[in-house]
Amino acid sequence: MKRTYKMIAAGAVALLAVAGLSACGDDNGDTGGGGAGTVGVSMPTQTSERWIADGNSTREGLEAAGFSVNLQFANDDIPTQQQQIDQMITQGVDVLIIAAIDGTALGTQLQAAADAGISVISYDRLIRDTPNIDFYVTFDNFQVGVDQATSLVSGLNTHFAGVSPWYIELFAGSLDDNNAHFFWNGAMSVIQPLIDDGTVVVGSGQTTIEQGATLRWSQEAAQTRMENLITAHYGGGSGALHGILSPFDGISRGIITALQNAGYGPTLADGLPVVSGQDAEVASVAMIDQGVQYSTIFKDTRLLAEQAIAAAVAFMNDETPTPNNTTDYDNGVFVVPSFLLPVSTVTVDNIQEELIDSGFLTREQVDAGVM
Ligand code: GAL
Repeated sequence: MKRTYKMIAAGAVALLAVAGLSACGDDNGDTGGGGAGTVGVSMPTQTSERWIADGNSTREGLEAAGFSVNLQFANDDIPTQQQQIDQMITQGVDVLIIAAIDGTALGTQLQAAADAGISVISYDRLIRDTPNIDFYVTFDNFQVGVDQATSLVSGLNTHFAGVSPWYIELFAGSLDDNNAHFFWNGAMSVIQPLIDDGTVVVGSGQTTIEQGATLRWSQEAAQTRMENLITAHYGGGSGALHGILSPFDGISRGIITALQNAGYGPTLADGLPVVSGQDAEVASVAMIDQGVQYSTIFKDTRLLAEQAIAAAVAFMNDETPTPNNTTDYDNGVFVVPSFLLPVSTVTVDNIQEELIDSGFLTREQVDAGVM
């Protein structure tokens, strides 16, 4: 029976690859589309625009390929995500696409999925400590960290040329997200040698991922930590501070708010520390455009959705999707066959080329700072 999906789905995916997938869409939680099979799509949260775009791109592509889709967002609440996946399994989905909140919290659900013969695609964040995932689609997460740190250093060279040492602080993502460790390790491969040779000084001395961590990637938590660091180590705002490693745009905005409130800036031209980011969220791209946030990492989530859809189509057809990495993503039980997409760094110099010309954002959205 699964064979019948093949022609429709393969054709539709080819079309999508040519046309590109739209990042816009409608409400949460619909079941729609054709009758060729059902895919459950479990996304972590709607508080960050990237996951809304991921969910909508995935749903639209799957529906265009002829599948029914059950898309759910879990409000960053682990029991909610567990329940939503339980319901998808009960509903009888053929394939699950999951971006986990806590990468280690879905073992029971995934055992039930395996027992029911459901293929599982781990989306962007690796699901850990289970044998019951079939494929992983993501970006080159170590490279993301390398690029964040590299842009931090180029920003320091641009905005604080001749200063020695540069005083910096380090922020990490949520420790229950496998990606946070890849970003950190990539970034520290660039920063640790600069700490060792005295080029940079982490003023707080907080140089472990645990010290830098931000539970659930929370903007508020990041702002609070930055405020505390400024109070404890930078004289409440009078101390020299030149750069902050930030792994995600929401965290970057929390950091920038704390810095500006303490009197730094308000722009890079006025001495605001250089702050990195990730996801090319429109609010941060607007701040980059205005000379406030220094950089972000652009990950084209339309392409990620395309890969997830191609993998889902393969599983529907009793085929195996083709990985391009079979070495780097050990989930604690096995090395998961993975497909990694490339990333790029965005600064004020290439917003047009990377984000607008590619159709990811419009000039109007960047100017307004909202989607
Ligand atoms: C990570 C993801 C990043 C960012 C972050 C916070 O897993 O790879 O792109 O979105 O979550 O949502």
